Amino acid sequence: MAVSFEFATAGRILFGAGRAEQLPGLVDGLGTRALLCTGAHPERHAGLLAGLAMPTEVVPVPGEPTVADARAATETARAHGADLVIAVGGGSVLDLAKTVAALLGTGCDPLDHLEVPGGGRPVTASVPCVAVPTTSGTGSEVTANAVLNSPQHGVKASLRGPAMLPRLAVVDPLLTLGCPPEVTASSGLDALTQCLEPLVSVLATPLTDGLAREGLARAAAGLRRAHRDGSDVEARTDMAVCSVLGGISLANAKLGAVHAFAGVVGGLVDVPHGMACAALLAPSVEVNVRALRERDPDGPGLRRFTEVARILTGRGDARPEDGVAWITETVARLDVPGLGAFGLAADRADEVAAAAGRAGSMRGNPIVLTAAELREVIASAR
Ligand SMILES: NC(=O)c1ccc[n+]([C@@H]2O[C@H](COP(=O)([O-])OP(=O)(O)OC[C@H]3O[C@@H](n4cnc5c(N)ncnc54)[C@H](O)[C@@H]3O)[C@@H](O)[C@H]2O)c1
Repeated sequence: MAVSFEFATAGRILFGAGRAEQLPGLVDGLGTRALLCTGAHPERHAGLLAGLAMPTEVVPVPGEPTVADARAATETARAHGADLVIAVGGGSVLDLAKTVAALLGTGCDPLDHLEVPGGGRPVTASVPCVAVPTTSGTGSEVTANAVLNSPQHGVKASLRGPAMLPRLAVVDPLLTLGCPPEVTASSGLDALTQCLEPLVSVLATPLTDGLAREGLARAAAGLRRAHRDGSDVEARTDMAVCSVLGGISLANAKLGAVHAFAGVVGGLVDVPHGMACAALLAPSVEVNVRALRERDPDGPGLRRFTEVARILTGRGDARPEDGVAWITETVARLDVPGLGAFGLAADRADEVAAAAGRAGSMRGNPIVLTAAELREVIASAR
C-alpha cells in the first residue's frame, strides 16, 4: 500500500523535570517585548516569571477562551508593542496565547480565522509563541490549532494553520504536580484520547503510529497513579509524555468521534473540554468496536482497537472489548460525571448526534457511524 504523509510540530521541544527554570534564558533573542498569558493565578509562577528580562505585560486567562477574550488580549498585546507571546498554563492559556500570537502576525480579527462560524482563513503568520503547559493535557504546545468558544454562535471551533505551531515548547512535569484530581482526570483522559484516536484514525501515519502507541502505554502506566497521588513524579512524567505525544499525533493524523462530539457539546453547555472527552470516550470506543465487528470485521480498524486493548490492559491476548472494559473502569475510578451533570438535556441527543456526524474531527473516525450509532454514543455519555 502506498505510504504518503506530512509531519509538522513545534520548532523545538524541551522536556524534563525542572526544565521550566531555563525559560528566561530560552526566550532571550526570540523577542524584545512579551505578552505573558497565565492562568487565573499568575502568582503560582512568580519565581519562574521573575527572571524574564524584557518588558512583559501579564494577561490572566480565567477559563476556556472565547472570541471576546482573544480580542481583548490581542488589544493588550498591541498596546504593549509585544513581539513575543509566552504562555504558562493549561490548554486554555496556551490556546489564547497561540491565538494572540497569530493575530499579531496576520493583523486579523479572530473570526476571520475561526472555522465553522468564521471565515476559516488559515493562519499563515504569527509572532513567536513559547508554550509551557501546566496540565497533561491537551498537547496544545505542539499543535497547529487553538480552540475558541463563540457563545454568540453556540460553538467551539479552531483557528488553524502551520504558523500556529509554537516556536518553542517547554514541557516540565513538575509544573503539573499542583493539578487537583478532577483536572488530572479530565486532562489525562483527554491526553489518552489524543493518542487513541490518531492510532485508530483512517489518517494514521507510520510516524504518528509510533508516537501514539508510546503515548497510550504511558497513559496506561501513569493515569490512575497520577490521579491517586498527584505528587507521584514518575506518574506525572508518564502523563506529560502522553500529552506531548498525543498533541503531535492529533496534529498529524487527526482525531475521531470523541472529539467530534466534544466540540459540539462544548459549544452547547458549560463543560470543561477534558471532562467532555472523558465522558464520551468509553461510549465512542464501544460503539466503534461494535460497528467494526458488524461491518468491517477484517479491516484495519478492528486490528487497531485490538492493539489499543493490548497496550491499555498489558495483556497479549486482550480483545477490543477488553480495552472498552479498561477504559470504563478507569473512567469510573477517576469519578468522571456524565454529560447530564453539566446540563446536557436528553432531548438534545438528536441535534448533538447530527452535528457531531458533520464535524471535521469525525473524518478521522475508523468507520462511518450510522445516525442510530451516533445517538447511542451521546445517550450513553449522558
Ligand atoms: N489546541 C489544541 O490542540 C487543543 C487540544 C485539546 C484541547 N484544547 C483546549 O484546551 C482547553 C482545555 O485545557 P486543559 O484541559 O489543559 O484545561 P484548562 O487549561 O482549562 O485548565 C483546567 C483548570 O486547571 C487549572 N490548572 C491548570 N494547571 C494547573 C496546575 N498546574 N495546578 C493547579 N491547577 C491548574 C486551571 O486554572 C483551570 O482551572 C480547552 O479550551 C480545549 O478546547 C486545545
